[in-house]
Amino acid sequence: MNINHLRQDTPGTRYHRHLNNAGAALPPKPVIQAVQNYLQEEALHGGYETAAKHAAGINRFYGAAAKLLNAKAHNIAFAGHATEAFNKALSSIPFQPGDVLLTTDDDYTSNQIAFLFLQKHFKIKLLRAGKLPEGGVDVGSMKKLIEKHRPKLVAVTHVPTNSGLVQDVEGVGALCQKHGIWYLVDACQSAGQILLDVARIGCDFLSLTMRKWLRGPRGAGFLFVSDRALRAGLEPVFPDLGGAEWTEPGIYKNADDASRFAYWEKNYALLLGSKAAIEYALGLGLENIEKRVAELAGYARQQLNALPGWKVLDLGKKKCGIVTAHHESSKPAIFKAALKKANINAGFASTANALIDFTEKKVTWAMRVSPHYYNTKEEIDGLVAALKG
Ligand SMILES: Cc1ncc(COP(=O)(O)O)c(C=O)c1O
Repeated sequence: MNINHLRQDTPGTRYHRHLNNAGAALPPKPVIQAVQNYLQEEALHGGYETAAKHAAGINRFYGAAAKLLNAKAHNIAFAGHATEAFNKALSSIPFQPGDVLLTTDDDYTSNQIAFLFLQKHFKIKLLRAGKLPEGGVDVGSMKKLIEKHRPKLVAVTHVPTNSGLVQDVEGVGALCQKHGIWYLVDACQSAGQILLDVARIGCDFLSLTMRKWLRGPRGAGFLFVSDRALRAGLEPVFPDLGGAEWTEPGIYKNADDASRFAYWEKNYALLLGSKAAIEYALGLGLENIEKRVAELAGYARQQLNALPGWKVLDLGKKKCGIVTAHHESSKPAIFKAALKKANINAGFASTANALIDFTEKKVTWAMRVSPHYYNTKEEIDGLVAALKG
């Protein structure tokens, strides 16, 4: 990777040391141009007319998104963001009262809230699998719970939002395939930093967002839907005319492909920005990205651990580009202010963002540093110096 070139291609690097890629990454020029050009054209020529003119390019989004996951274009549904994609998949599971939904302690907060909603309103039973001593879901515990409770759905967040953890989604996938259980993976924080292959993961659904490691625009994401789920006729709550056809006054027919999970109205500027972002990542190669991100994150962990008063909180055998750390004796506001003054972007999370995890770690807040491949060790040194100050 030519880091200088990649930084020149990322206008935001001129203004900030941006170490908040797990929040939203700085987009590269092709993404910015794709969105701006399309918006401009829409404004001058009309939304529907511009969409018709760009139909072929818009259609290529689905092929690019599929390539990112080793899927087929007909398995991809565009969405406004990861949670929308996730909830659409979740809403398609035909839960009956008493059915079990099995997840992990480290699944994303909004997903946990949706599970609790299902528990409250649809009387499902929510179970969470045990953890390994080194962190991350214990696939052995999942196996026992699957054999005992035969869950209707297993849902796992690949990379939790506030720890460096990478969960064993392939191990869980093998169990779900063996037992024929619907399997939903939240890949919001892994897409764009880790190579994803839905065939290897063995999932029925995978949701992701564009603004984070994929460096796409905000307000865009997509959902992978497996052929098994499509063939079984799973449909989201409230399909619209984008994913279904009104064939007779009392009848509608779902689309055969994953468009069944998408709404008719789409922000095509963001869809084309998403295509550009995916092509950018594929051009660099996900293996190369993963290697560079792991190197920078490893360096950040080392430097933060060596900093007096700071403790890196990340668990798990395999770690990723999210680095979380806590300072015992001070309040986060002090560090937030120091980083702002030094023009450094990083995230800060509180217990509500990772309730079980932070409670177990006995912390009420954590700083989240998430370097992407276009960041440098010098930027991480700058962060450490600002915290020291
Ligand atoms: C692991 C994980 N899943 C899902 C989401 C939600 O993504 P979105 O805000 O695009 O809906 C996030 C956002 O931070 C996340 O970290």
